[in-house]
Amino acid sequence: MTYQEAYSKLEEYGQLHVLKYYDELDDAQKEQLLQQVDETDFSVLQYIDHKDAALEVKEISPLAAMELDEINRRKDEFTRIGLDAIRRGKVAAVLLAGGMGTRLGSDDPKCMYDIGITHPVYIMQRLVENLMEVVDAAGVPVPFFIMTSDKNHDKTVSFMKEKNYFGYDPSMIWFFKQEMAPAADYSGKVYMEEKYRISTSPNGNGGWFLSMKRCGLIDKVHELGIEWLNTFAVDNVLQRIADPVFVGATIASGCASGAKTVRKAHRDERVGAICLADGKPSVIEYYEMTPELLDAKNENGDPAYNFGVIMNYLFREKDLERIVDEVLPVHIVEKKIACLDEKGNPVSPEEPNGYKFEQLVLDMVRELDTCLPVEVDRSREFAPIKNKTGIDSVESARELCKAIGIEL
Ligand code: UTP
Repeated sequence: MTYQEAYSKLEEYGQLHVLKYYDELDDAQKEQLLQQVDETDFSVLQYIDHKDAALEVKEISPLAAMELDEINRRKDEFTRIGLDAIRRGKVAAVLLAGGMGTRLGSDDPKCMYDIGITHPVYIMQRLVENLMEVVDAAGVPVPFFIMTSDKNHDKTVSFMKEKNYFGYDPSMIWFFKQEMAPAADYSGKVYMEEKYRISTSPNGNGGWFLSMKRCGLIDKVHELGIEWLNTFAVDNVLQRIADPVFVGATIASGCASGAKTVRKAHRDERVGAICLADGKPSVIEYYEMTPELLDAKNENGDPAYNFGVIMNYLFREKDLERIVDEVLPVHIVEKKIACLDEKGNPVSPEEPNGYKFEQLVLDMVRELDTCLPVEVDRSREFAPIKNKTGIDSVESARELCKAIGIEL
């Protein structure tokens, strides 16, 4: 893109400050900046003016989860169906690890975080160990796709290599990068992280399928005959991945997706609850719940919105193809964004100073029309690590791991 073209594009979006330092840059930096302007989608900035649009719903009604009683009763049936699909190569795991993990506050990718006490136990190691249990039970490798972002790709890939993939077959692992989105101040002006670079951040965990498609990995999925993709977050060190029971229950239900859920620990627990929104399966965030919804009861007298998602979903691939062109809502998230100050010096803010723009995997559930929420035993499957200490932290996850006999 030429300078003049960049100027016109930036002018259109009210972002001419991006060229403030242009004359100071060397040739390589100039080229880098023009290329970034060319590649950046500034249209997300428009969402700042209607920030709550993504939250605008919709008539909320309950969506019953398949509860543990039923799952335990039908465990053999589900396990048989799930293992059969896995053995026939129909199921792959997709780790969504492109996030920045700012709350954990480590400079390294979250998957490299060591939660061990007497010996190293990396977050990635826990995930691979969990997946290996299924590989061992099925007697076949499960294709394993790992999404990273520009911010953590190289480190993640070299870490896995250095650790010898924690014993996983490297020919069954594929890395891919998600797209980035610009980050802006509260008035919608994009921040600069260098005089020749706009501040960007990963565009949320909802773009994973499109990113896989763009880089050609969906062709690989077809080539391998994979029909189900199990996406999961990096930070739950207890979750079961490609879990035969979950796979079997979802396939048996005939639904296009499945969502692992946990029974809420208490009324106000900060987890997104599975529900129907305008009749479609959906997730209502804890901050969207009104007192009426929090107190609503189902026909058994139990809380009607009592099952929280844990970001472990199963998607039928052919249905994702159908919705790939649908535009998912853009969520505007307040975050700390590294930037340049007025004088062009780099700053790392202590407090949130602007917005990032994210699409979320939970919105894909809504697009797919049918979803089976499956309850899992939270003491065995839910130990998220968002923070260093306190709720959902390294500390709390360590306690949960120890409680079920995982040595750290
Ligand atoms: P979080 O919502 O916890 O975001 O991600 P985060 O960026 O990792 O952490 P904070 O908020 O800055 O502390 C939930 C899951 O979604 C993935 C994360 O890697 C994690 O597995 N994710 C998040 C992506 O893959 N891409 C993104 O753009 C954002």
